[in-house]
Amino acid sequence: MLPDLQRLATGIVDEVANAGQCDVVELAGRMAGYTAAALLGIPREHGHRLHELFMITHSSPDVVGEEAFHSAFAEMAAMGFEALAAKRADPADDVLSAYAQMKVDGRPITDIEFFGNFILLADGSLDTSRNLISAGMKLLFDHPGVRRRLADDLDALLPGAIEEMLRLLSPVVYIRRLATEDTVLAGQRIAKGDRVVICYGSGNRDERVYDDPEEFDIDRKRGDHMAFGGGGPHFCVGSHVGRAEGMVMIRELLTRLPDIAQAGPETWAATSLTSGLASLPVRYTPQST
Ligand code: HEM
Repeated sequence: MLPDLQRLATGIVDEVANAGQCDVVELAGRMAGYTAAALLGIPREHGHRLHELFMITHSSPDVVGEEAFHSAFAEMAAMGFEALAAKRADPADDVLSAYAQMKVDGRPITDIEFFGNFILLADGSLDTSRNLISAGMKLLFDHPGVRRRLADDLDALLPGAIEEMLRLLSPVVYIRRLATEDTVLAGQRIAKGDRVVICYGSGNRDERVYDDPEEFDIDRKRGDHMAFGGGGPHFCVGSHVGRAEGMVMIRELLTRLPDIAQAGPETWAATSLTSGLASLPVRYTPQST
């Protein structure tokens, strides 16, 4: 997907290059939304809208209100079932067409199974990648020395910088599992049926594994962070796409808008499931496209 992702990133930066200011979270949200749309095979506006809808459903209902929560979910359901009808009628070379034609134990996938996977894929790919790009830029604004080195040698340093951003940011805060048997984990007794929360950001700061775990060090040799999960069958299926989105968009921002700088205080999204910014205002010398 790299050439497609590059075209998306160039187009997104083209739209704001002249303006001299924008919000990086908005750009990152577009990158994530457009990428999800291309992968799943849905209209680009739906990808972007899904990104906004997941921002609502991931937020605490105390903050967004029950009504907004339910209407966002209803809109997602309408979009998912519309996609199912479209992919059954006219399949194309995309992930949702493959799901719509899929057989499970010899019988066609049910509507609700399709919808569950639609939600899982869309949910998995939106604010995660957005948070990597936007909070990754914030890390670079806060570490000007690292940023200078990175901008001078993107080819050599960007892959390591992306891994370190993933480690330190841990865009997914936690996932919950249900214990299927009695067990003991790190001295803690867990009974069958217990709900166990895995906090990725904590594992990613394990002082037994990482020296100075709070430091943003793009030269770390270890690439075994758990920002995409700790291994096993549920390891993030989109890890390569997520990394590629981060790589392409951060390179585009640093090279096309070389003096990009934070222009005001950032705000954080009101969700505990994912960790990321709600806004990050920036300014830069306007560029002609
Ligand atoms: C920086 C970007 C991303 C981060 C940090 C991230 C992180 C994660 C994490 C922590 C999990 C849970 C793993 C587990 O339960 O063991 C996960 C699962 C998942 N991710 Fe991602 N993800 C990212 C991008 C994506 C993208 C781009 C897609 C889609 C193309 C995606 C699709 C999924 C799906 C479908 C699952 C569920 C897999 C399963 O339960 O079998 N993710 N991701």
